[in-house]
Amino acid sequence: MLNWLMGQKKPEASAVAESAGAATEAEGSAEVAEATPEAPQDVQPLSIRKTCNPIAEASDPLESQLSELVQRRIDDCEKEIASPGFDLPTLPAVAMRLMEVMQNVNCPITKISETVMTDPVMAAKFLRMANSALYGGKSRIESVQTAVVRLGLGTVKNVVMSIALNGTILKDKRMEQTAKHLWEHSIGCAVAAREVARIIGGNPESAFMAGLLHDIGKVPALLFVQKSLKPNMKVRPEFIDALVEQHHIRAGIALQSQWQLPVDARLAMAAHHAVNSKSDAEAQVSLRIPQAEAEERKNLRDVLISVVLADRALASLGYAEEPGEVYIVDGQLAADVDLSPLSAMEYLQGLPDQVGKGTSML
Ligand SMILES: [Fe+2]
Ligand SMILES: [Fe+2]
Repeated sequence: MLNWLMGQKKPEASAVAESAGAATEAEGSAEVAEATPEAPQDVQPLSIRKTCNPIAEASDPLESQLSELVQRRIDDCEKEIASPGFDLPTLPAVAMRLMEVMQNVNCPITKISETVMTDPVMAAKFLRMANSALYGGKSRIESVQTAVVRLGLGTVKNVVMSIALNGTILKDKRMEQTAKHLWEHSIGCAVAAREVARIIGGNPESAFMAGLLHDIGKVPALLFVQKSLKPNMKVRPEFIDALVEQHHIRAGIALQSQWQLPVDARLAMAAHHAVNSKSDAEAQVSLRIPQAEAEERKNLRDVLISVVLADRALASLGYAEEPGEVYIVDGQLAADVDLSPLSAMEYLQGLPDQVGKGTSML
């Protein structure tokens, strides 16, 4: 279980490494691990290994056609996401859970914010609204709890009800597996990033939110796939996974320029596949938020590192970003931030329970 931190390769390490998708192509720079002469034997860069690339291997003309249709939507995604009717879809189970919570007229506000924080789409909608011109105060809101306080109980209940009743719901059975996996992965990453932040001395709540939102670009990507699918078209779930993975960074960047999301979450959304070491994290902060002051720079870097380590750790717990994906070694970044094997063990041991609790409603 600790392979990702302790630099021990899994047996699959000899498999042919092949990356699929824009995550590793445009934004991500993860490559096959080769220990440098200076690096200690047990510390190696991140590796992403996949045994197949469903998009490259698509021999079915329908899948090739689908891939082209989705690419066209992605090429125009900034416009579509900025259009007034655009809505991020949520899962039927999440909408039902919210309705259940709201049925209790005396439902405490903490219970509502806890429920909202188990759903990346809901959390993003609340942050966007709390920072909007209508409700925005002098300071920017970066957590769901603060957003709920700013909006007030009445507004929160109305918003939850309207999302549950009128929001776009992902009902297509063909998308079910990918969507459920994405929601589980997002909740898992949030919980894990909060734990890593505690260990490395970062801000746990910022790391939680950034972890929850880091792959939210997959939601519009999923929506674009759904809109491109013809009614009776059958498509392999792994092909949908691969399409969503391929386009999620571009769609996430388009989304973040329209929505008022926290700056550290935006950094995590754009850069989580491009960080293999602490210096990569520094470089991403400079690149994405060049005007950041020294203290803010450190906070941003800590949040990004927490999310990246959490994202990689999830693969060893069965919550990989993409099914079949194996992150072999994560020794370099862990060593960079002095995340000792002992503290990592404590953190990883409690993780399955915490992730299980967070995903139990899905
Ligand atoms: Fe991702
Ligand atoms: Fe992820």
